[in-house]
Amino acid sequence: MSEYDHLIFAAKQARENAHAPYSNFRVGAALRATSGRIFGGCNVENATYGLTLCAERVAIFKAVSEGERGFDAIAVLTDTDALTAPCGACRQLIWEFCGDVPVILSNLKGQVEVLQMRNLFPKPFDASSL
Ligand code: THU
Repeated sequence: MSEYDHLIFAAKQARENAHAPYSNFRVGAALRATSGRIFGGCNVENATYGLTLCAERVAIFKAVSEGERGFDAIAVLTDTDALTAPCGACRQLIWEFCGDVPVILSNLKGQVEVLQMRNLFPKPFDASSL
């Protein structure tokens, strides 16, 4: 039992909705707002491939479009032995909206690893760079 169990479960539920007929790589994410609300996201692929959206970005856009701004953790869940970390584009977006939050990686076997965004995304380009 950890403080992230709820978030990991939300990511697992979101993964059920993954639309991944091209890669068959199903990803779930869950983003926790400081308001307490949790926003799930899944990857949504497209026949063009390039228009695919990752689970993390879907969760972020859902939350931001609902008016949320402060976030304190994000979870990512896949069915792989090597836990999946967010891609580069998602790291940029997580940094933009969440900053140095814990990123909880997990899989269907229940393995969990917690990383900090500052370590996943050193030397960011952000508002302070402008
Ligand atoms: N994917 C995610 O949703 N999140 C990640 O962190 C890594 C990759 C998706 C994109 C695509 O639908 C599939 O996984 C294979 O790259």
